[in-house]
Amino acid sequence: MSKTIYVLNGPNLNLLGKRQPEIYGHETLADVEQKVRERAATFGLEIVFFQSNHEGEIIDKIHEARDHAQGIIINPAAYTHTSVAILDALNTFESPVVEVHISNVHKRESFRHHSYVSLRADAVIAGMGTLGYRAALEYFA
Ligand code: DQA
Repeated sequence: MSKTIYVLNGPNLNLLGKRQPEIYGHETLADVEQKVRERAATFGLEIVFFQSNHEGEIIDKIHEARDHAQGIIINPAAYTHTSVAILDALNTFESPVVEVHISNVHKRESFRHHSYVSLRADAVIAGMGTLGYRAALEYFA
């Protein structure tokens, strides 16, 4: 049976490609999804790709992943720095979690230097642009 990886994206990432392209680049989230799916197919991994601007919807998806996924790749976006609730949800998930940030959050404002999600993540990727999502897939492969 092929393994399923949930790729979860937080607020404002629906505007990828239009939002501060000097920081986040010109690729859209649909471009990222397509490249992730193509790479995942070469590894025989199934992908559930999801974005929400709402904290509770991301938490619901993490709960769903508990029964359906062998791994989570998550870019929690701004919730990285604020959400104990997303951390708690990830702590209920028993397979590996990779945290991805498109930008190098450590080079940016100090409020971006702390991540609640990193307390749970098995690996953290930051500053590789959207390639970070595919690097995370390699981790699972
Ligand atoms: C981000 C970094 C966060 O600080 C920011 O709030 C985002 C995107 C990144 O991918 O670089 O929305 O997670």
